[in-house]
Amino acid sequence: MILREGLSYDDVLLVPQYSDIVSRREVEIGNSLGEDLYFRLPVFSSPMDTVTGQQMAVSMSDSGGLGVIHRYNSIEEQVALCSHIHSKGAIAAAAIGGSGDSFERAHELALAGAQILCVDVAHGHHTLMRKAIPKIREIVGPAIHIMAGNVATKHGFEDLAHWGADSVRCNIGGGSICSTRIETGHGVPGLQTIFDCFRADISRDVKIIADGGIRNSGDIVKALAAGADFVMVGSLLAGTNEAPGSIIQTLEGRLYKAYRGMASKEAQHDWRGKHSSNEGISTSVPCTGPVADILEDLASGIRSGFSYSGARNILELQSNAEFIRQTSSGQRESATHILGRANE
Ligand code: XMP
Repeated sequence: MILREGLSYDDVLLVPQYSDIVSRREVEIGNSLGEDLYFRLPVFSSPMDTVTGQQMAVSMSDSGGLGVIHRYNSIEEQVALCSHIHSKGAIAAAAIGGSGDSFERAHELALAGAQILCVDVAHGHHTLMRKAIPKIREIVGPAIHIMAGNVATKHGFEDLAHWGADSVRCNIGGGSICSTRIETGHGVPGLQTIFDCFRADISRDVKIIADGGIRNSGDIVKALAAGADFVMVGSLLAGTNEAPGSIIQTLEGRLYKAYRGMASKEAQHDWRGKHSSNEGISTSVPCTGPVADILEDLASGIRSGFSYSGARNILELQSNAEFIRQTSSGQRESATHILGRANE
């Protein structure tokens, strides 16, 4: 049997290209998710209860990105969050499931001003999704953007697009807190999923969201160059002031915040008092300060990345991109490696 190979972020680099960009201001890293849905920064925060609540959503919007409100709450709570975000002039986006109260939720969220609904199903290439997307579309009408996922394959992407999704979250089990691949043996390396979905044969413009496993601006540039329109991040933002949850101080005085997978036992227990799966871990991450500072650093790294590829925008990045595979020695060389200090 011949097995194909799946590449992940560390397996590749982008080969620097001739550039005539003299100032980073010439570079536009923003992108559009659809009509009236332009984002100056192609970064979305994950719909997770330790990442995106009201404060994160408003701050993401202020910095040019988008925060997707998590769904481990009551309809009333989520509607209140959405109304607040909408009242601040930010684009309100909220996650819903694919069954149960999701249809009532979709209806109420649309009334509360949500412009984007994210149908959040761990294995999105599923009959549940095939039924859910058209039903949600019927409930909320044509004006609302339907984001759906997650998928790991070109076939999955094509099906969700065909069922009516306007954007698709791509990557299964690649997130920092995901244990899906360990628990189930299933998944596809994150960057490979983007390469594959970018080749999808679809008749509409359906956006690709590279979701999970993104650790720095270099990974974001690789994801966009491989074909993503946006990236979605959790761990990069979980330690910020705006992430929900209180600060934990260690005896040595170090400050942390909780970060956990939505399919972790802990998150499910807090939400509905029981768990049906255990495909995520619960941990903590160091506090990192205001989200605006993190996003500014990311934006600066992304802009610089575009310039290395001689690209003024995402389309140019995707057409100029030349990926090269690196060996394990290349990976070690690519990380900082001052003698006598461990790689960071
Ligand atoms: P990062 O790497 O940015 O990943 O921390 C965030 C993404 O991880 C996904 N997610 C999960 N995947 N089990 C999983 O297999 C989980 O419990 C879980 N919780 C979140 C999700 O796509 C998110 O955006």
